Amino acid sequence: MSAVKVGLLGLGTVGGGAATVLLRNAQEIQRKLGRAIEISHVAGLGIADQTILDASKVRLTEDAFEVVNDPDVQIVVELIGGYTLAKDLVMQAIENGKHVVTANKALIATHGPEIFKAATAKGVNVAYEAAVAGGIPIIKAVREGLAANRIDWIAGIINGTGNFILTEMRDKGRDFDEVLKEAQALGYAEADPTFDVEGIDAAHKLTILASIAFGIELQFDKCYTEGISKITTDDVNYALELGYAIKHLGITRKTDAGIELRVHPTLIPKKRLIANVDGVMNAVLAHGDAVGPTLYYGAGAGAEPTASAVVADIIDTVRSIDAPVEQKVPMLGFQDGSLSNEPVLPIEDVHTACYLRMTALDKPGVLAEVSDVFAKHNISLEAVIQKEPAPGSDKVHLVLLTQVVKERDMNTAIAEVEGFAEIEGSVARIRVEQLG
Ligand code: HSE
Repeated sequence: MSAVKVGLLGLGTVGGGAATVLLRNAQEIQRKLGRAIEISHVAGLGIADQTILDASKVRLTEDAFEVVNDPDVQIVVELIGGYTLAKDLVMQAIENGKHVVTANKALIATHGPEIFKAATAKGVNVAYEAAVAGGIPIIKAVREGLAANRIDWIAGIINGTGNFILTEMRDKGRDFDEVLKEAQALGYAEADPTFDVEGIDAAHKLTILASIAFGIELQFDKCYTEGISKITTDDVNYALELGYAIKHLGITRKTDAGIELRVHPTLIPKKRLIANVDGVMNAVLAHGDAVGPTLYYGAGAGAEPTASAVVADIIDTVRSIDAPVEQKVPMLGFQDGSLSNEPVLPIEDVHTACYLRMTALDKPGVLAEVSDVFAKHNISLEAVIQKEPAPGSDKVHLVLLTQVVKERDMNTAIAEVEGFAEIEGSVARIRVEQLG
């Protein structure tokens, strides 16, 4: 059988990794596939300087449209990132009847509906395993491995940079900005690292997971997103005292009222396996009605782990290249026309327990006053910690752990507490999940 010709867009961290893995493991891949995969055309900036590919065998260009318009290329691998050029290239590739493999979570989360519609009309496949959790085959696991289940919920550490920063801050007391710079140097961070620390990258990935879990349309704009930049060392330590670790989680859950879709720092019991996932590693918990809880762990960022997912998608695409459409796995796992219109819940309608930290004047009656507010709003307190004031200070930290409460009610109670003269500044809130 003739080799399948692949066009590669982008030869940066992930593109370089994909080329390296495809070349290094060519024989092993051919043993699995029964045919060879050949990188035939590559586009990237400064491509003439590259050393991975043999320029005598591969066409090199700085114009990515040359690759998507090359009649010999059967599979276009988009590893440029971003929304604009990447979208134009992917749409052009589809228009030209080429299959697409992409690691671009931003593209899929925001333009997925249009891209999948065009791909379906042309009878080509768009594969995106590398878009979520780097090297962990979580798309395949949820979409195919758990296909028998009704998925109840998914919760995951799905941004390696954020997890790396939280881990280094906790274990080594390192400064936020310094760790972020290291994550950038290691090739983990997004081109715009605020995507990592403000949760946007995780929200892109969670949006995709929610769609394949529940068979709903991709709705990135409805994902509640909160980053890690306000987490303090005090919070990390108080959480530990209460038996919890703080992790930046993406959580999507099916409830009777609708689908929860939220990314935020979260207290989770220290004893959970996922609480011990550190550094750049990712982990995803998926709970199905038949299987119960399942956990997937691996490197969520980096050249070769991400390349592992990209190359697996190329292999899968080659396997199904001539298959009739009814034999292919639908791109979101559910048949066209079968997506449900269950609403995504606004965060105000979500129920969670909460960790609250506030700075209070150290004088009698303040704790009672604060407790009364929560009692008035029917919010039960699970634990209360009052810290000693620092020497020479008349302020203390009050830390409260509440039972599960509707976000809207908690907002009202927090606003009342923040109105007290004895409470300084705002109340820090971190949601709590048991993940049992
Ligand atoms: N910036 C992302 C992360 C890369 O840190 O997880 C992988 O998507």
